[in-house]
Amino acid sequence: MSNARKFEALKLKTAEALKGGGAARVDKQHQANKLTARERVAAFLDEGSFEEVDALAVHQNPDLEKIPGDGVVTGFGRVDGRPVALFAQDFTVFGGSLSEAYAKKICKIMDLAMKVGCPVIGLNDSGGARIQEGVLSLAGYADIFLRNTLASGVIPQVSLIMGPCAGGAVYSPALTDFVTMVRGSSYMFVTGPDVIKAVTHEEVTKEDLGGASAHGAKSGVAHFVMPSDLAALAHTRELLSFLPSNNLGEAPRVAPRHEMPLENPDLDTIIPEDANKPYDIRQVIKGVVDDGNFLEVAETFAGNLVVGFARLDGRSVGIVGNNPANMAGVLDIASSEKGGRFVRFCDAFNIPIITFEDVPGFLPGVNQEHGGIIKNGAKLLYAYCEATVPKITIITRKAYGGAYCVMGSKHIRTDFNFAYPTAEIAVMGADGAVNVLNTKEIAAAPDPAAKKAELVADYNEKFANPYIAAEKGYVDEVIMPRETRKKLIRALALLETKRDHLPPKKHGCIPL
Ligand code: HXC
Repeated sequence: MSNARKFEALKLKTAEALKGGGAARVDKQHQANKLTARERVAAFLDEGSFEEVDALAVHQNPDLEKIPGDGVVTGFGRVDGRPVALFAQDFTVFGGSLSEAYAKKICKIMDLAMKVGCPVIGLNDSGGARIQEGVLSLAGYADIFLRNTLASGVIPQVSLIMGPCAGGAVYSPALTDFVTMVRGSSYMFVTGPDVIKAVTHEEVTKEDLGGASAHGAKSGVAHFVMPSDLAALAHTRELLSFLPSNNLGEAPRVAPRHEMPLENPDLDTIIPEDANKPYDIRQVIKGVVDDGNFLEVAETFAGNLVVGFARLDGRSVGIVGNNPANMAGVLDIASSEKGGRFVRFCDAFNIPIITFEDVPGFLPGVNQEHGGIIKNGAKLLYAYCEATVPKITIITRKAYGGAYCVMGSKHIRTDFNFAYPTAEIAVMGADGAVNVLNTKEIAAAPDPAAKKAELVADYNEKFANPYIAAEKGYVDEVIMPRETRKKLIRALALLETKRDHLPPKKHGCIPL
């Protein structure tokens, strides 16, 4: 065969691979408000940067049509100029179902991503294990799960769910660092509505069981819920801008868009006069960080703790904040898990952790105790203790009881601890303390209510302030709220060369 014919043959094969499952199935995909795998790849990556691998791979089943690529598009490209590996499941080919060859394609790019140290982005849209492949498909999933686990903490892994994701297939996204779901066109569940009906007699729709709202607000499986494929892809590009390419690198430094003064007088008026009045901690966060830009993670889950990424003088930081506007900012099971996971991610990827603390304690209740607030609260505590990245805490108001210790206290290796003059650092709130210590005295007083008020005022004067902690060095400095940005930027600059480590061990035993 002449070279010209050989070159022509390559062209034909490539064109064949680009067709996916054919025009009719592509139409169906579009009618379902979904982009095709290739459209998603093109929308996600820097223009023209995609380098595909294994476009001609096919399965080995003699009884099934062979479609080049076999239902998944894999390769490398760039996001804001930085390399990423990605795979996009192609629902138009056998419903995006996973074969042995398909799994090998994903494993290949994951292995290479580990070698070069770049993130892996998975665009999921699949009917799960390819039925015709039997155990070969299950083996393929297990091969991917292993790589997800080995890559954890080495390279960032992000999963976008843009269609079905059911059965054991959910465990690959579940092992990755962030899960983004598209509202209305994606769902995730281990067992679907039909099986649930047969086993437990519960009736539930796919959407209610495993749609984006369910996982964004109830299970916490989805960290981000986006209105469309395009929005999810654009959002993932933004997320990556806060992250390093791997655990040995630093996140890119991005200059703020607007000049921001180091002091912000608006911050002085956010904390209410009445210590029991709520305020939204996001107001403080946005008043401090570059351009007021805060990329919140798991916004609709466990809102009593706010977590997310921002920048200070261009440096990427992870923010954790108790939010008094939601359940008074109390720590419960869900928020402890949410915070623990986020802190560990930041620690794994060299992202400093900034904590805004206003916490009345752990949530009391039989459900919380029986649900394991002890072991779940311990996860958050463990994560903070274990973290060796720069850690800075600002106590805005309440820092009570065990929650004081947990939320980045000085005692667990936090580098800088600041407190506002409005801080209250104590074993418990004044009301609770007086009830424990002075019950008899109050009962014996001629005017018990007046006596209690006097004791509460005394307690607040003595304990509910930042000065005892400042005298002991547990708080490095009591600062005006307006100074927060300045103090954080200066502390971060100093901590840029921080070195800290854990004792040698195989791994710790976090109370899972
Ligand atoms: C082979 C599959 C497939 C599968 C879908 N298709 N799922 N082929 N294996 N798992 C094919 C269909 O035959 C069809 O082919 C095309 O993909 C599109 O499917 P439709 O059913 O027409 O699409 P839709 O109505 O949108 O429904 C999508 C669906 C449904 C909900 C995903 O196809 C479905 O329920 N599929 C089975 C899902 C499943 O049970 N998977 C196994 C889960 S267990 P044509 O040629 O008509 O276009 C699992 C275990 C993993 O994954 C274990 C890991 C350890």
